[in-house]
Amino acid sequence: METRISEIADGIFRLSTFVPDIAPPAGFTFNQFLVMGDEPLMFHTGLRKMFPLNRDALRRLMPPERLRWIAFGHYEADECGAMNEWLAIAPDARVAHGRTGCMVSLNDMADRAPRVLEDGEVIDLGGGKRVRYLDTPHTPHGWDAGVVYEESTGTLMCGDLFTQLGDGPALTEGDVVTPAIAAEDLFNYSSLNPAKGTTIRALAKLAPSTLALMHCPSFAGDGGTALRALADDYDRRTDDRRRALAEARAA
Ligand SMILES: [Fe+2]
Ligand SMILES: [Fe+2]
Repeated sequence: METRISEIADGIFRLSTFVPDIAPPAGFTFNQFLVMGDEPLMFHTGLRKMFPLNRDALRRLMPPERLRWIAFGHYEADECGAMNEWLAIAPDARVAHGRTGCMVSLNDMADRAPRVLEDGEVIDLGGGKRVRYLDTPHTPHGWDAGVVYEESTGTLMCGDLFTQLGDGPALTEGDVVTPAIAAEDLFNYSSLNPAKGTTIRALAKLAPSTLALMHCPSFAGDGGTALRALADDYDRRTDDRRRALAEARAA
């Protein structure tokens, strides 16, 4: 396995590892995003067992010891499995996540106390980079779920939203919604809930020009429209599930 590096927006780098053995024959991709700044932030730590691969990849961009912030979408192995390995090699680094995630997992699981981020709170990374944390409970999954928006580049780091199979380009202007719908059909990975469409549509209001996605190419273009299309599909799924439940009760 190799980790490839691409700059997907000004000062935002995608570290991408393709694993052909997951969901074969298409395979599956794991991406982390480094936001450069005076205080560099990495979104996703990668799996704990992939830490040596990701550490060596990061070293091609900057000394890993300089890392200051570790953020991610929710508490799960590919999102944050290697957080303590990163904390061990970067003495000034700190995990930053929403209040729920800190309360239910990170206050215990992180080797150093995490910074608790309120919904909408900004970390100024210096060098013109500012990242805003947004709570998205249960979206795509996890009570503690959230996303991070880098304001200067209009880049929304969406985590598992838009997950798709395979190994695509680092950045695409093509359709990221249709493959995401197909992956949801296959994996059923999202927590369907009545608020899901509304939660995703609230992100669309940011009108991001880049979507940094964890398990597929990043997207350059009208991120708001892509998010609204994804929200519509989740509303459809929720309505279908409700209807099926009503029919089962009536039977
Ligand atoms: Fe996940
Ligand atoms: Fe993930």
